[in-house]
Amino acid sequence: MLRNKKIVLGVSGGIAAYKAAALTSKLVQAGAEVKVIMTENALRFIGSTTFQALSRQPVYTDTFHEQDARYIQHIDVADWADLFLIAPATANSIGKLANGIADDMLSTTLLATEAPVYIAPAMNVHMYSHPSVIENMKKLDHWGFRFIEPGEGYLACGYVGKGRLEAPETIVSLLEKETIKSQVLKGKKVLITAGPTREKIDPVRYFTNPSTGKMGYALARQAQRLGAEVTLVSGPVSLEAPSGVKKIAVESAEEMYERVAERFEVSDIVIKSAAVADYRPKQVFDQKMKKSPGDYSVEMERTRDILQHLGDNKSTQYLVGFAAETNDAEEYGRDKLRRKNLDAIVINNVSEAGSGFGHDTNQSIYLTKEGDRVEFPMMSKDDMAEKVLLEIARAVAGDAE
Ligand code: CTP
Repeated sequence: MLRNKKIVLGVSGGIAAYKAAALTSKLVQAGAEVKVIMTENALRFIGSTTFQALSRQPVYTDTFHEQDARYIQHIDVADWADLFLIAPATANSIGKLANGIADDMLSTTLLATEAPVYIAPAMNVHMYSHPSVIENMKKLDHWGFRFIEPGEGYLACGYVGKGRLEAPETIVSLLEKETIKSQVLKGKKVLITAGPTREKIDPVRYFTNPSTGKMGYALARQAQRLGAEVTLVSGPVSLEAPSGVKKIAVESAEEMYERVAERFEVSDIVIKSAAVADYRPKQVFDQKMKKSPGDYSVEMERTRDILQHLGDNKSTQYLVGFAAETNDAEEYGRDKLRRKNLDAIVINNVSEAGSGFGHDTNQSIYLTKEGDRVEFPMMSKDDMAEKVLLEIARAVAGDAE
């Protein structure tokens, strides 16, 4: 899978830099073209000639040592990359990337590349658990950088714990798997809805629900990772769009309907994970309502059922709905699958501990219109998103055959 892949390997200055030599060799053996960038501190641990011989490419160590006057070196290398790997990634190189510092060849090239970047940290166990390192890694993770977690074991500093650079063969097989995954939804336009809707009653009050958008955003992030072109129509949540995903912010069910309807025709896969309000106030006041003695009732009217509309009007789109239930989940879910003319449905029992609104985990039952049934046990929403998308991809690939 790595045959002819153009990989830039950034080697930063930690004792594990020597392992990057074996890594270079294994990547070359797997068929990749490898260009190595070394930091000044990496050069204290291992010479550039080793990497030059193993990669049979020039090794970059200095932003201003331009090897070919026709090109701006760090931009050229950044554009050349299909994939960027930092191994070992020290606390310092992670910190620089997370904070936009570009003061050497590796950090400038990293800021300039649009290729997916994999980071394989290696450092002392206490450095790895330092709040500043954790914060930097979280930031990078959120921006779409992918981490290859260090293993546990004996560290060069004498400690035993987490911080050892993952074995070169494990890194190579992980990159191979990721490369295969990045083709799974290649060329597919995926439309995802997420979050709650807000149905206003006056300028300062509205009806909503506790959806945080975590499941929908996980679906968007994973669909993008699987190679899809992703549009995320999102109700008001505090999450930022995953990198590479086009986000369209909406408030009400009607607004969500409009944004979804105008993109439905060109979409290949539509996943409706938003918690859309079923009712909205019949009357919306232009000015803030003033209280008066006694009770007050709000008359509500039905919103448009977006999913039902899509199900009634779909042609080639693969349409997936969500059902959030508190009882008889599978029965209600199966009924929605049929009634809304869906291809598949993800059924959540939101009354079970650890699943549903606001949680980072979820468990669900996945049903297709062909009668397939898959049970997903409790797992992170990201893992579940990937599993759901792999089911969808399999069905869509099957349809195309
Ligand atoms: N949905 C939608 N538009 C609405 C309401 C719901 O598109 N106005 C979608 C949700 O995004 C979800 C699915 O429909 O994918 C299930 O939502 P739910 O409210 O649970 O389904 P209902 O058909 O409204 O069923 P009920 O109220 O009977 O539980």
